[in-house]
Amino acid sequence: MKQFIYSYPTKVYFGDSAFEEMLKAEAEKMGEVVMLAYGGGSIKKTGLYDEITGALKKAGKRIVDFSGIMSNPTYAKVKEGIALAKKENVDFILAAGGGSVLDCCKIISAGAKTNEDIWTMQYEQHRFSTDFLPMGAVVTAFGTGAEMNNGAVITNEDLKQKSPLVGNFYSFAVLQPSYTMTMPMGQVISGAFDSLSHCMETYLGTPRTQNVSDDMNEAVQRNIIRNIYRTLDNPKDEEARSELIWDAAMAENGILKIGKVTDFQCHMLEHQLGAYTDCNHGRGLAVLHPVMYRHYLPEATEQFAGLAVRVWEVDPEGKTKQELAEAFIDELSAFIHKIGLPGTLKEMDITLSEDVKTKIAETAIRTAGCVKKFDTEELREILTECE
Ligand code: NZQ
Ligand code: ZN
Repeated sequence: MKQFIYSYPTKVYFGDSAFEEMLKAEAEKMGEVVMLAYGGGSIKKTGLYDEITGALKKAGKRIVDFSGIMSNPTYAKVKEGIALAKKENVDFILAAGGGSVLDCCKIISAGAKTNEDIWTMQYEQHRFSTDFLPMGAVVTAFGTGAEMNNGAVITNEDLKQKSPLVGNFYSFAVLQPSYTMTMPMGQVISGAFDSLSHCMETYLGTPRTQNVSDDMNEAVQRNIIRNIYRTLDNPKDEEARSELIWDAAMAENGILKIGKVTDFQCHMLEHQLGAYTDCNHGRGLAVLHPVMYRHYLPEATEQFAGLAVRVWEVDPEGKTKQELAEAFIDELSAFIHKIGLPGTLKEMDITLSEDVKTKIAETAIRTAGCVKKFDTEELREILTECE
């Protein structure tokens, strides 16, 4: 195990009356002016907006509305939120949405406390914010686990870069499964696949020897797979959904990462695919994963073989490690197909020009824990194989 310090800043309110329980405990700590941040309007359609604003007003809060946070949030939207938070002297940010809303607010929370440009600070001066507006999250779309970490994935449209920025941690997260029952099924599945991807990207990090985090990781992967099938069988199964919500949080609350440097190279390539195409994150990962994993052979043979047997229940009898490793990738591909996710860029209606492929491959961040060190040419090949 690598050296680590473990402590977690986010308090989780989970279950049927999570929002109510959160308000009882947290309302007083929020201060007077609460910025309610949300996306394109699903919370208005579902009635959650009225529920939240009603409760906040009852608790004596002045509400500042910040709406229209788009999927794959842009840095321009972050800056709009920072300006509003400053203008209205906001005391607390309450983010209600999925990963996009939650990520956008992490950087608003940092930007509201400084006159410096956060992107320049982090990417040119290599400095990180230390002063933040406090914030809480009400999760309406699960999968990213964004409520459990302080990383935000933001698209800088001027630079054509979709990249991580370090922001604030949520002081609390409301995980109330009933709030997620209106998610479109496509988003449920792409979100759950994103959680599975987070597990795999963590598992494949270094050191590549099996530790307790990896054993727990395998259990979370099995649970995600089982509950994706359950949810597809019965979209109204709130119990299955509640398992997927906690799986998403488990994949990103640091527990599975203890003692490891994570891989996350597939994510970095997908983010740049997103910078150029604005594609759905989980669907992009579904296309890239099996193709990239074939490039991880033979470096990850041992780990892939383990996943084949212990997660995908491949019978090891009479098979070599190499055959098992290949069986893992085949199982993953078949699963992606079975649950209705795309297997090619074409299925996502994406056509990349040769020039754009090169740009994506050049600008994708290379990660420290990656199974192999990719050069631009090999990442380009992966994109071509995804077509
Ligand atoms: O915008 P509204 O109208 O709210 O609609 C949203 C949006 O269209 C809708 N939705 C959310 N809750 C709903 C609902 N519709 C009906 N009922 C509900 N209860 O769902 C759509 C997608 O939402 P979005 O937040 O974009 O999806 P997701 O949670 O998958 O987040 C994706 C973003 O998170 C980043 C991705 O790159 C992407 O930008 N990620 C963040 C991570 C993190 N911070 O840890 C990790 C991930 O790897 C990922 O990169
Ligand atoms: Zn992800």
